[in-house]
Amino acid sequence: MTFDHPAVTVIGLGSMGSALATALLDRGHRTTVWNRTAHKAEALSARGALPAATPEEAVTASPLIVACVLDHEALHAVLEPAGAFLEGRTLINLTSGSPEQARESAAWTRSLGAGYLDGAVMTTPPGVGSPEMMFLYSGSSEVFEAHRPTLTALGDPVHLGADPGLASLYDAALLGLMWSAMTGWLHGTALVGAEKTQATAFTPFAVRWLSAVAGFMTAYAPQVDAGLYPGDDATVDVQIAAIDHLLHAVAARGVDNALPELLKHTMQRASAAGHGSDSYASVIEVLRNPENGR
Ligand SMILES: NC(=O)c1ccc[n+]([C@@H]2O[C@H](COP(=O)([O-])OP(=O)(O)OC[C@H]3O[C@@H](n4cnc5c(N)ncnc54)[C@H](OP(=O)(O)O)[C@@H]3O)[C@@H](O)[C@H]2O)c1
Repeated sequence: MTFDHPAVTVIGLGSMGSALATALLDRGHRTTVWNRTAHKAEALSARGALPAATPEEAVTASPLIVACVLDHEALHAVLEPAGAFLEGRTLINLTSGSPEQARESAAWTRSLGAGYLDGAVMTTPPGVGSPEMMFLYSGSSEVFEAHRPTLTALGDPVHLGADPGLASLYDAALLGLMWSAMTGWLHGTALVGAEKTQATAFTPFAVRWLSAVAGFMTAYAPQVDAGLYPGDDATVDVQIAAIDHLLHAVAARGVDNALPELLKHTMQRASAAGHGSDSYASVIEVLRNPENGR
């Protein structure tokens, strides 16, 4: 087998690590792999990956090491015994964690004379390798630029800045958005489902509506930055009246109302804090300061 792209090591061959190694192999990278449970390397070996016997052997096989294990505790359990071999290499950490953990790992690798980028994979394993999918990175821009061609094998690499904590920070914020949006979609699906509309029939409307919602977000972002929320399209008080229709329709059909009740309560706090005539963007004032409107 011939490899015409730089050598990479992948540490951690769970669902995500295996997808990362597969994408690198598909792009022609010489890919060394290591996993705590060794048999998970077998399918990748059959595709041309080189299994390492130990983390030390995995680290020394390539100048670039991509790690994707369960959490930062697992990352350090694997890499600390091999730490001396990281000198002069670069660690790209795609393990999920907090901004604080990312900053600690960056300081640890710096103390070893290694480069570091923290990353957030904004897709599930089947999306790895697609240029549509965002991979967020933070840390040294020199390190990012040096490895950008390799990182494009995994998805669309986006550099957020020099602070290594940024990728984890954005990851948490974007996952929060995803859970809110997906729970809202499932809630709406349960509501229309109570009148025998199938999820597959409702979902195209939900998807089309989300693109309109994306437009609202884009219009409101400058208001948030300015701290000025002109209510010239729809005010918080108008939305409070509208959410009562949702609460009523949901209650009448025996569907769970906890989500819209929380949303109404949050809007009422914004109104009580003086934002009733402002746009929905003003709700950020109670999110930023939980005492507002209480
Ligand atoms: N799956 C996704 O859609 C997705 C999306 C974005 C980000 N991520 C992140 O990617 C990371 C991996 O997720 P995954 O879905 O691949 O999980 P997974 O399938 O459960 O794999 C977990 C990996 O971590 C290893 N591991 C766990 N504890 C360990 C320890 N103490 N020492 C050494 N290795 C240890 C496992 O090794 P063994 O095989 O030996 O157990 C395995 O390689 C997580 O941080 C996750 O949040 C996942």
